[in-house]
Amino acid sequence: MKISIYFVIVLVLPLCYAIDEDGETIIFKTLGRDNYAFDIYTLPLHHSPNYELQITDGNSVNFNGHFPSPSSFLPNNQTTTELPSNSPPLQLLYVTERNGVSTIYYDVVSTHPSETSSNRRSILQSFTTTHRTQIALLPNHLNENKVSIKDKPSVSGENLIYVSTHENPVQPRSSWAAVYSTNLKSGLTIRLTPYGVADFSPAVSPSGIFTAVASYGKKGWSGEVEDLTTDIYVFLTGDGTHRVKVVEHGGWPAWVDDRTIYFHRRGDDGWWSIYRAILPNESHVSVDTVVTQRVTPPGLHAFTPATAPGNHDFIAVATRRPGNSFRHVELFNLVKNEFSELTRLVSPRSHHLNPFLSPDSSRVGYHKCRGKETSNSSPLLFLENVLSPVPGLTLFRFDGSFPVFSPLGDRIAHADLPGVYVVNRDGSNRRKISDVTAFSTAWDPVRPGVIYTAVGETFASESTEVDIVSINVDDLDQSNNLKKLTHDGKNNAFPSVSPDGKWIVFRSSRSGHKNLYIMDAVHGEKNGLRQLTEGPWTDTMCNWSPDGEWIAFASDRHEPGSGSFELYLIHPNGTGLRKLVQSGLGGRTNHPSFSPDGKSLVFTSDYAGISAEPISNPHHYQPYGEIFTIRLDGSGLKRLTHNSYEDGTPAWSPKYIKPVNVEKPKGEPYCNFEDCHWLNDTPNRSVLNVVLPACPMSHKVTCHVSNSKAQCGV
Ligand SMILES: *[C@@H]1O[C@H](CO)[C@@H](O)[C@H](O)[C@H]1NC(C)=O
Ligand SMILES: *[C@@H]1O[C@H](CO)[C@@H](O)[C@H](O)[C@H]1NC(C)=O
Ligand SMILES: *[C@@H]1O[C@H](CO)[C@@H](O)[C@H](O)[C@H]1NC(C)=O
Ligand SMILES: *[C@@H]1O[C@H](CO)[C@@H](O)[C@H](O)[C@H]1NC(C)=O
Repeated sequence: MKISIYFVIVLVLPLCYAIDEDGETIIFKTLGRDNYAFDIYTLPLHHSPNYELQITDGNSVNFNGHFPSPSSFLPNNQTTTELPSNSPPLQLLYVTERNGVSTIYYDVVSTHPSETSSNRRSILQSFTTTHRTQIALLPNHLNENKVSIKDKPSVSGENLIYVSTHENPVQPRSSWAAVYSTNLKSGLTIRLTPYGVADFSPAVSPSGIFTAVASYGKKGWSGEVEDLTTDIYVFLTGDGTHRVKVVEHGGWPAWVDDRTIYFHRRGDDGWWSIYRAILPNESHVSVDTVVTQRVTPPGLHAFTPATAPGNHDFIAVATRRPGNSFRHVELFNLVKNEFSELTRLVSPRSHHLNPFLSPDSSRVGYHKCRGKETSNSSPLLFLENVLSPVPGLTLFRFDGSFPVFSPLGDRIAHADLPGVYVVNRDGSNRRKISDVTAFSTAWDPVRPGVIYTAVGETFASESTEVDIVSINVDDLDQSNNLKKLTHDGKNNAFPSVSPDGKWIVFRSSRSGHKNLYIMDAVHGEKNGLRQLTEGPWTDTMCNWSPDGEWIAFASDRHEPGSGSFELYLIHPNGTGLRKLVQSGLGGRTNHPSFSPDGKSLVFTSDYAGISAEPISNPHHYQPYGEIFTIRLDGSGLKRLTHNSYEDGTPAWSPKYIKPVNVEKPKGEPYCNFEDCHWLNDTPNRSVLNVVLPACPMSHKVTCHVSNSKAQCGV
């Protein structure tokens, strides 16, 4: 007999969407995110590790937990009688994305072991939640005007310390991440990070006096996507003053006492390791007076350290050991210099991220994927509603690559590498229309059911054959539904059709460089071909405006081969070329797609830099990818998404979609994501210190690394 009683308070704020059928909708792809299904779990440290307990409730994605100290002020005004419980309630701060945007929740959870009579052979003891109090700690931030990341919460006295991205630094290619403190009684929020600087991964010292962060300082982001090579700064938690750099090159700080900080760094030998910094007693704290020592040895990657106040005996870390492709939480004994494994004994084939210790060192927490769907966990989503900062515009994360809408907006075609699919916009009737490996889809505006795509490898060189084909998605004879439109044996991709259905603009390498061409939409290049752009650079990802006047595209013509892409506009007759968006020097701006009225473009860009240390997330080739819109005259640049994931390949819907999640059919794969690829190899074999140019934002694709250089043929 299971007892399961839930008391949930302040769950969701009233979302006051006027039903506006004239509104607009944008969908986009986020690499891997559909399969995260993260919940926060805990293991006790002084008895058998078999007693793993899921603390969060299986809704949405829950991560970056923190056990508050008993002395902190947290709203807990519940008077409900507690059911009998073996242990005191667990208190947890964490980030949740259940409202379509990341916010900070506080849960108080009582549990007791379930009866196991029906399941005696299981070594895993299961627990039943007997009581849950759930409070959104920053309720005022859950509205459209304040859409932003909230991350890495901790509490000190009455103050919640966290990262937020709600202030635009205006400078392109600068992270919006900054540390804030909100008084939980008064609601007063102050910014602790100086303007002009980005801070990540804040940690408050045991006394509460100091906060340590990982920061670029003034040097800013260089485009790095693996080890951000941040420095560690310490400042006063009260007001952010007395800010001083204490460690050159380090991240994810964690305090043991007000003078001792553990942090991670990718060492000169290539191994991510934990280091310790001891701050001097005297008031002149600086990088030169701080004593820094390596703590964990080379031979495995150890990162994201977690400490407990006053505990000089052990820390918790995440590790990647050679030969094991899973990320696990281990303890590291600081006295004996020994690791002891924790999560590998419980769930050997799951990734466990970002450990944290309880203040009394009695338990460790972390997040991992909750595994296969169960009755009390939220379903996988086909369209996940993402809170939009623009009234009247709804935003969805789409579960597939290169989505495009049919002219009526009732169907979506997309690629899945391999395979081309079509699906109704309510998620029903998803059909594979071809097995081919294809990317970059487009829907014919005139001929019903006809789509175009490029068949071949993504990110392949100029000499690789990739061909543009048309497919009638309603022709059920899969053996014969592909019509090849290019025949030159070169790399042809990113088709987009003129509004009269007569022409296709695409990019082709037939001249030796990837430039734009226009050909006959029905019969292909045989019936007419014209070169639109020409030069020793790459023009790509073209999109024809609905009024026929413009073609938008991404190009590296300002710095060929650099990996930097900017957005341009050109008339189909070759006149009027102009640059529309540049994301700072060396920036990346890709995948432009017109709004149905032709007045704006949606695209993906690194304009907002990186919002969290990449190692604290699963793998993203381009963790800076966020979705933006801009008007054709270059005004009104607007950031739509706030997360530390790779968002890309956006599409503007011709029809409004209400801001409601659309579920995927049951039985789809769960927990199907990868750990950071750059943790896979042992440093001796890897291409360390070689900066790989990142590829333009395209999804679920691998950059082929050869000769220490990623070939980002686009
Ligand atoms: C408890 O706190 C919540 C918000 O923190 C508030 O909405 C609610 O009215 C409070 N209940 C009582 C009984 O004070
Ligand atoms: C710094 O303080 C610690 C403890 O407060 C003390 O043990 C140590 O001797 C002091 N070191 C110096 C150089 O004053
Ligand atoms: C090229 O096309 C644009 C937009 O349709 C038009 O305004 C312009 O006059 C055309 N120029 C030439 C030379 O045809
Ligand atoms: C490989 O790495 C180990 C540990 O870092 C080191 O001891 C060894 O010298 C390295 N070998 C080479 C060939 O770099």
